[in-house]
Amino acid sequence: MTTSTAQEGASEAAAIYPPPQRLVNPENGVKPWCSSMEEYETLYKESINEPTKFWTRVANELITWDKPFTRVSQGSLKDGDMAWFPDGQLNISYNCVDRWALQDPERVAFVYEADAPGEASKVTYGELLKQVCSLANVLTSFGLRKGDTVAIYMPMIPEAAVAMLACARLGLVHTVVFAGFSSSSLAERVADARARVVITADEGLRGGRPIRTKAIVDEALLTCPEVEKVLVFRRTGNEAVAFNPDRDVWWHEAIASQRPYCPPVSVSSEDPLFLLYTSGSTGKPKGVVHTTGGYLLGAAMTLKYVFDIHDGDVFCCTADIGWITGHTYVVYGPLALGSTSVIFESVPTFPDASRYWKLVEDHKITQFYTAPTAIRALRRHGDSYVTKHDLSSLRVIGSVGEPINPDAWTWYNNIVGGGKCAVVDTYWQTETGSHVITPLPGATPAKPGSATFPFFGVELAILDPQTGEELEGNDVSGVLAIKRPWPSMARTIAGDHKRFLETYLRPYPGYYFAGDGASRDADGYYWIRGRVDDVINVSGHRMSTAEVESALICHPAVAESAVVGAPDELTGQAICAFVTLKDGIEATDDVKVELVKEVRHRIGPIATPKTLILVDELPKTRSGKIIRRILRKVVAGEADTLGDLSTLSDPSILDVLISKVAAAL
Ligand code: WTA
Repeated sequence: MTTSTAQEGASEAAAIYPPPQRLVNPENGVKPWCSSMEEYETLYKESINEPTKFWTRVANELITWDKPFTRVSQGSLKDGDMAWFPDGQLNISYNCVDRWALQDPERVAFVYEADAPGEASKVTYGELLKQVCSLANVLTSFGLRKGDTVAIYMPMIPEAAVAMLACARLGLVHTVVFAGFSSSSLAERVADARARVVITADEGLRGGRPIRTKAIVDEALLTCPEVEKVLVFRRTGNEAVAFNPDRDVWWHEAIASQRPYCPPVSVSSEDPLFLLYTSGSTGKPKGVVHTTGGYLLGAAMTLKYVFDIHDGDVFCCTADIGWITGHTYVVYGPLALGSTSVIFESVPTFPDASRYWKLVEDHKITQFYTAPTAIRALRRHGDSYVTKHDLSSLRVIGSVGEPINPDAWTWYNNIVGGGKCAVVDTYWQTETGSHVITPLPGATPAKPGSATFPFFGVELAILDPQTGEELEGNDVSGVLAIKRPWPSMARTIAGDHKRFLETYLRPYPGYYFAGDGASRDADGYYWIRGRVDDVINVSGHRMSTAEVESALICHPAVAESAVVGAPDELTGQAICAFVTLKDGIEATDDVKVELVKEVRHRIGPIATPKTLILVDELPKTRSGKIIRRILRKVVAGEADTLGDLSTLSDPSILDVLISKVAAAL
């Protein structure tokens, strides 16, 4: 099992932080949606013991159905045939846009903070409805119909959300690809998703630097002949950007000739809403499929309870829409509640390390949600960047993506939250769709580093990794599993249901296997210990070691490679690659530079190995299998506890390996 170092130092004896007084006894009289542990427990028990009653109530409270459901759920984890509200019909864009636009068109849906400091604008629900409708009509004019897939490769701008919502309006399936991925990663996803249309922008801007977004799409599409149209939003207006009139269409020209109303297409609760590619244990990314009703309910309900959203709140999640966090908590969750969501295009250190905190002050943000890696990086710059800003609007501050070490938690709580905000360490995954383990701000006493307790409807289990037996009671460690289906869980992997079953449902029959190690402490709090598979977590981004290995092997100099996660103070884990070169190729620094470039080119900058070590031999079993466990231990500085080495074919390589790692790290 790989254990994340971020948890080191976390112990059950850690301090307990009760919910802040400000939430429990609010000055403005607005009580949190859940204001005590008793209330949490009552609701939680109801969600488990009387699921039909519970889900019927919340699904009708938070969602407007075109055709009401008569059945809450069916299917089981054992059979992998789960469905939620199966006979209900709805449209997500109606729920996220029309409902609020009709009620109050001037309400702000998005606050857009552009890359350039001080360049902010707002999109009201009334305007959003027109934009979504116009774009939906453009997509219809391309011949797209319900069930077709559209790829979205865009910067963090409101139009990215408009594109997602326009797809949802027509029952099209979107697949957003993070715009930091390379052309070959994009091509792989576009082809796998069978997308016929790609929506993009001429260029992106990050930290003042242009990003060649459209050029990357052009490169990717060289290998995707089935793509018929590319819709291009003009973000920077750089005239040098190539434009192919046979295939490319300018966004602004296309919408100008469309009617700004488009009737929403009513879809089944179980129709797919989106695919989102994520890394798995093998080299090929998997297109996780989320459906409509259950996903929307998960997004809305978690946002309401976990961030305690009330009327007038301004919610800011800094994740890119290319990740699940951006899907659920920049777009669908906030809009499903009719709330205001901040879209942040820039980076936290541009022009300096106070950018987030200035953002909070300027827009009077009430809930702020980011990743531990950003918290750790900003903390290094010193408190003054934070304290010079007025952050008194904040009530809840959240963390997601990787375990947050207690030191970073405490800094976030004391300096950013001023000791007056609830800190919510939310555990979830692309596959879970929305939070599954999380504190509730007005109720849960927090322990820094623990994601605390399950969300409503989520029945957790800790299993013995070897026997699969459920470990009952407290003070247990093992692998994390979920015992029953919940509404926002992924339903399948695009085009490969077998892989879905094998990855999540077959390892421990009857359970959803999350792929993380976890423990439940003496007080019943859950602590996530990091991935137990070949997935590493770099700055909260999931990366499969196999994917990086396949990129390395593409280089003609490489004979073999093995990639592991190395503990890293800033990014949680960092990519550490071991490479053997083909005969006759000299191990020089130039080769190393080239290999790193190869990975950046094949996957994208997020996969850059921090350390690349050229070795003569990799540790292998006698049958020739690479023993990654040894490499993991060595890079973690645990070479003295390598465990059973009897399978290692040539133990003499260890000393050289250890000294090379010591020199490199
Ligand atoms: C990790 C991101 C500890 C975990 C929403 C999980 C966390 C993977 C936490 C999913 C947390 C996410 N504490 N670990 N609060 N949140 N993780 O799919 O290993 O990009 O399996 O979804 O991130 O990453 P993904």
